[in-house]
Amino acid sequence: MPAAVAVPCPGMPATVVLGAQWGDEGKGRVTDYFAESSDYVVRYAGGNNAGHTIIVGDQRIALSLIPSGVLYPACTPVIGSGCVIDPKVLIEEMDMLSSRGIEPGRLRISSNAHLIMPYHRKLDSIMERYLGRNQIGTTKRGIGPAYTDKFSRTGIRVQDLFDPAIFRKKVETALDDKNRILTRVYNQLAMSAQAISDEYLAFAPRLLPHVVDSSLLLWEALADGRSVLLEGAQGTMLDVDHGTYPFVTSSNPTSGGAVVGAGIGPGSIGDVVGVAKAYISRVGTGPFPTELTDETGERLIEVGGEYGTVTGRKRRCGWLDLVALRYAVRVNGITKLFVTKLDVLSGFDSIKIAVAYQSGEEMHREFPRQHRVLYESRPVYETFEGWGEDISSIRSFSDLPAQARNYLEFVAAQTGVPIGWVSVGPERRQLISL
Ligand code: GDP
Ligand code: IMO
Ligand code: MG
Repeated sequence: MPAAVAVPCPGMPATVVLGAQWGDEGKGRVTDYFAESSDYVVRYAGGNNAGHTIIVGDQRIALSLIPSGVLYPACTPVIGSGCVIDPKVLIEEMDMLSSRGIEPGRLRISSNAHLIMPYHRKLDSIMERYLGRNQIGTTKRGIGPAYTDKFSRTGIRVQDLFDPAIFRKKVETALDDKNRILTRVYNQLAMSAQAISDEYLAFAPRLLPHVVDSSLLLWEALADGRSVLLEGAQGTMLDVDHGTYPFVTSSNPTSGGAVVGAGIGPGSIGDVVGVAKAYISRVGTGPFPTELTDETGERLIEVGGEYGTVTGRKRRCGWLDLVALRYAVRVNGITKLFVTKLDVLSGFDSIKIAVAYQSGEEMHREFPRQHRVLYESRPVYETFEGWGEDISSIRSFSDLPAQARNYLEFVAAQTGVPIGWVSVGPERRQLISL
């Protein structure tokens, strides 16, 4: 008779934290908050296109690849197989943490994660340049080309670093093709397979102690009743399937991507926490129905400090969009909302929330299936009275100004999802648990 199979404890499912907008919702600080009581924090998609800023006291920690759980000594950070890893950036990030007294030794890296190679970075930049006016505004970190190779089955994985002969062969094979494209299509110099292999194989000893079968690690953790947090990067509207394609990233930041990218079954997922800023920002090009290009938008940028963590680019800002947020609730199965940066809205005489898009005679309450509508329509707003007081030291919902409570209650009612937490400042303790 076969031995009984251990089934992960149904009482302790994993929680997903993901962005419900176009990224930069404050996922890093939210993950940091939940990580205090988590045994594992797992990044399940994306790469160093992400920038997650956490403020602890007077320290500002910016992470791009390593999950935010690394700041807690009892928490094991894991980079799942759904991620793409630039090994040089990863090692630099580990060194940065060490130099600040944060020990990254517990980091675990999936052997199945794909590597971002130098030709991916090069192609990302050149392809953007050639797209001219139609460019996506990528982070130029090689994300798109790395995922393209993954799906065309020519990618190179973390585990390949530990088979030098195979690694060299794979790089040569990849470069046969990439060099043709670089030289003949884009008029660039060819890249050297030997130089790339030498550089990457030198990273292998640093990474080896961290590399695991992350799916097995999490299976065992869940079976042991450990708490697992799955941390998303980017946001729902940047999802390659569900976002504003083609102005998206090349992975699935949505909750389905959490299951695939961590290598666990859907039955292991409990809550899906959608992180939504009290307004919206977007970096890069692509439609953004509630964008404000006037002085109100500038004020959100300045007060909210809306400059990219990775590229330093100014983020485009606008009012909260419930059409997009209700869509995010649907495609992710969001069970709780975490509203961030409510403090940034203090001092506005009035605040708006989009409840529909109007295109000619047509009113869209659901996110339109035809992309064109996003450009043609204008948002239909509900206007709310603002509040003047500084709310950054408030720690309970009932102490918030009535206008702020009204704003939040409207969001919960319109999305049908309870708000579990509201943050009122970037520092760890600046939040309200409802
Ligand atoms: P992520 O990519 O979703 O992790 O978000 P980022 O870290 O890129 O951007 C969010 C920014 O907002 C960071 O600089 C945070 O420190 C900051 N932040 C997070 N929560 C709050 C908040 O409640 N109030 C204010 N004022 N800033 C916040
Ligand atoms: P976090 O995790 C905001 C955007 C880029 C570009 C598009 C594609 O910090 O929220 P890519 O380099 O992924 O091919 O770029 O996606 N983008 C982000 N925008 N926050 C991010 O991450 C982003 N990661 C990618 O600006 O529009
Ligand atoms: Mg960010």
